Amino acid sequence: MTALDNQATSTSFDLFRLPPDYYRDPDSYLSQLRAHDPVHANSDGTVLMTRYADVLGIWRSEGALVDKPDQFAEKFGPGPLLEHHTTTMLFRDPPDHGRLRNVVTSFFTQEGVARVQGTVHSHTIALLDRAGDLGELDFFQEIAMDLPIAVICALLGLPESDADFLHHHGVQVLFPLNPGVPQSVIDAGHDAVRVLCDYLDEHLTTWIDCSGRTGDEHVVARLASAVVAGSITRSDALHMLIVLMNGGHETTANLLTVGLYELMRQRDQLALLSGNSSLAPTAVEELLRYVSPLQLQGRRLTQPFEASDGSVLAPGTEVVISQASGNRDDTVFTDAHKMDVARKPNRHVAFGRGIHACIGQYLTRTEVLTFLPAFLQRFPDVHAVGNAEFVPNARFRSLRSLPISVS
Ligand code: HEM
Repeated sequence: MTALDNQATSTSFDLFRLPPDYYRDPDSYLSQLRAHDPVHANSDGTVLMTRYADVLGIWRSEGALVDKPDQFAEKFGPGPLLEHHTTTMLFRDPPDHGRLRNVVTSFFTQEGVARVQGTVHSHTIALLDRAGDLGELDFFQEIAMDLPIAVICALLGLPESDADFLHHHGVQVLFPLNPGVPQSVIDAGHDAVRVLCDYLDEHLTTWIDCSGRTGDEHVVARLASAVVAGSITRSDALHMLIVLMNGGHETTANLLTVGLYELMRQRDQLALLSGNSSLAPTAVEELLRYVSPLQLQGRRLTQPFEASDGSVLAPGTEVVISQASGNRDDTVFTDAHKMDVARKPNRHVAFGRGIHACIGQYLTRTEVLTFLPAFLQRFPDVHAVGNAEFVPNARFRSLRSLPISVS
C-alpha cells in the first residue's frame, strides 16, 4: 500500500497494520484521514481522531479519562508492568492524578529546572567537542541521547553512570504500550519494571533513612519525604521515578534527532537558524510541531463527545488522538507541511493540553534551546551521510540512527 490519496483508501487505514513507509512520513496518511475520515474506526474498535479541533477537544474534555485498568489487564496480564501502567500520573484520573503530580511539580517549573542548567551547559560543551573530535558520527547514539539522560539523572538524583542501564530497561517498559505487540515484548516489560523497581528502591531507601533530608535536594529526596509523610506509598514513588525517567529522555532525544534530520532536508531553514540564534525560541516550537516526538494518546469517554464532523461518540468509546496530525492541520497552521523556524504564533499541541499536559516541557525547552543553536553555530555545514532509518513505532517518531558529518 502506498500513501493514501482518496477517501476509499483513507477508510482502509489500519493503525495496527501500518505500511512500512508510514514511519518516514506519517502525515502523507494522516492528512488524508483529516480530509476524508477524521473520526476513523480502527480495526480494534477504537476511534482515531486526527483534526486539531478534536485533539484539543478531547484533551480539554472532563469526560475523557486516562485510566484503563481493564484494557491494560487484558493486554499485559497481572504483574509489575500492569502495576506500573495503572498507577502513575500518566494513567490516573483526578483526584489521584493531582495527588501524585503535585509532589514533584516544583522540580519542573522554571525555578526547578534552573538547578540543572549547569548540567545542561557543561554537557552541551562536552558534546560539541565530542562531535568536533569525531567528525563523522551517529548523532542519535553519540549526542542526542546523552544530554537528556544526564539532565534527568541530575534532576532525579540518580548517578549519571547508570544512564545506559536506566535507558535499556526504560525502553522495555514503554514498548508494550504500542498497538499489537507480541507476548515476548510484554514479558520483557514485566521484567524491566521489576529490575528498575529493585534498583530504585535502594536509592529511595537511602533517602528515607537520611535524617538530614529536606526534600529539596532532588526528586528522589522529595519522594522519600512524601513516603515518610504518608502522602504517597513507596510503590507510588518507584513508579513515579520510572515514568519521569522515561518521559525525561527518549522524547527529547527524538526531538533533537528527527529535528536535525528535518532541518538537514529543509536546508534553507537550517541556514536561517544557524545564522541567527535569536530565532532559536520559535525554531524549538516549530520543531516540536513539525516532529511531534510523541504522536498519539489514548482516552476513554465517559460522556458523549461531538466531533468536528458532527458525529457523536458514545460514552465507553476508546479514543486515540493524534497530536502529530493536529500539528499538521492546515485549518490552524499556514503551510502546515512546511517547516518555518520563524513561525509565530505556533499553537502546537506536541506537549498535550489539559491536566495531563507534559510536566517536562520547560525542561525539554531548556535543553534544546541551549544545545541546538550552539550545535548549528559551530557546525553550520552539518550534513547526513548514509541512510536514516525510522523506528517502526506509531507512538514515538524516532530514528534508529542519524549518521552525520560535521567536518
Ligand atoms: C520533546 C519532549 C517531550 C514531548 C514531546 C512530551 C510530550 C508529552 C505529552 C503529549 C504528554 C501528555 C500525555 C497525555 O495527554 O496523555 C506528556 C505528559 C508527560 N510528560 Fe512529556 N514530553 C516530553 C518531554 C518530557 C520530559 C523531559 C519529561 C520529564 C520528566 C516528561 C514527562 C512527562 C510526564 C510525567 C507526563 C505525564 C503528565 C501527567 O499525566 O500529568 N516529558 N508529555
